[in-house]
Amino acid sequence: MGWFSGHYNLRNKLIVISGGSQGLGASIARLCVERGANVYIVARTEWKLQKVVKSLKESILDPDQIVGYVAADLSKQAECARVYETIGQVPDIVMCVAGLSLPGLLLEVPSESFETSIDCIYKSSLYFSVEALRVISKAPKSAEPRHITLFSSVVAFLGFIGYGSYSPLKQAVRGLADVLRQEAIPFNVKVECVFPGNIDTEGFENEEKTKPEITKQIEGPSDVMNPDKCAELILSRLDSGQQMVHTDAIGWILNGLMLGSSPRTHGVFLTLTGFILSLVVPIWNLIVNNQIKTYFKKREELAASINNNEVEDDEQVENDEELEDDQGLEDESSSSQLLN
Ligand SMILES: NC(=O)c1ccc[n+]([C@@H]2O[C@H](COP(=O)([O-])OP(=O)(O)OC[C@H]3O[C@@H](n4cnc5c(N)ncnc54)[C@H](OP(=O)(O)O)[C@@H]3O)[C@@H](O)[C@H]2O)c1
Repeated sequence: MGWFSGHYNLRNKLIVISGGSQGLGASIARLCVERGANVYIVARTEWKLQKVVKSLKESILDPDQIVGYVAADLSKQAECARVYETIGQVPDIVMCVAGLSLPGLLLEVPSESFETSIDCIYKSSLYFSVEALRVISKAPKSAEPRHITLFSSVVAFLGFIGYGSYSPLKQAVRGLADVLRQEAIPFNVKVECVFPGNIDTEGFENEEKTKPEITKQIEGPSDVMNPDKCAELILSRLDSGQQMVHTDAIGWILNGLMLGSSPRTHGVFLTLTGFILSLVVPIWNLIVNNQIKTYFKKREELAASINNNEVEDDEQVENDEELEDDQGLEDESSSSQLLN
């Protein structure tokens, strides 16, 4: 193991990946298999898991390599425990990739979406990592550290309008990593937290459907990363020993806004960046608050004009009906005249 590599060995390791049935999780699973790891993927939808496992088996390096899946809803703690019982061995690496994003303005997000977000983002990370630690804590300590890797998001560092059911939960995942990192020390387990930017996945495609216009405006045009490239980058940064992993420069810069007690990647520079950001952010807030005011004003104007049009339409319908009634009376009298 060199100073800057070999901190996250995959070969011959048992790796369990939640959210491995699609997107980033599936890309990570493929790379792990290609590098000689035994891999189990976990998600709720069994047919998707079967499809991914079938394609993963085509990438194995040697015939003894294990590739399997367990279908489970990880928002339930008992289900998480069942996953590890089913696998029946102590994992070397657990990656909690499962998650989703359902953006929307807080007053407009349906209550079920809040519940789903809490379940699939926070509870799935909490229960899956805690049950992993429980299994590891009962096993003999390994010479090489084991790993539990949590997946947060760059918006954990900067929450803004439209991400009310996402950003606070990803902040909670980061907070969970900080606590877990300390509680895992006696078991020789290292805890990492990954903060991806936008990745071109099924989840991201879904997110775009409900993302409010103002959220897109504030985000600006952002590069969307290919999931395979993103997976490769994440694994190489983990291998270099980073505990707070960013997938783009903006993620690392924004980390400067929220340093807390988490480990710091390129700490001196990040701390300096944090200081500079503390001067810039009040100006950013002014700009964004103006954008938000303009957005709501336009929405009000649009709603008012739709209302006016509806009133005009109603009046038009009433006029038309009156005209038709008058016409009907005239027609009746003319037809009765004709009859007479
Ligand atoms: N894509 C992005 O732009 C982006 C950006 C920043 C952070 N991230 C984070 O990176 C991770 C991967 O993102 P992605 O875009 O690849 O996600 P994705 O395409 O939506 O895939 C999510 C995976 O999680 C599984 N999952 C969700 N809820 C689950 C539950 N309750 N129990 C078990 N499995 C569950 C899904 O399978 P089932 O639905 O079948 O259960 C699926 O396999 C997520 O944590 C996401 O928040 C993504």
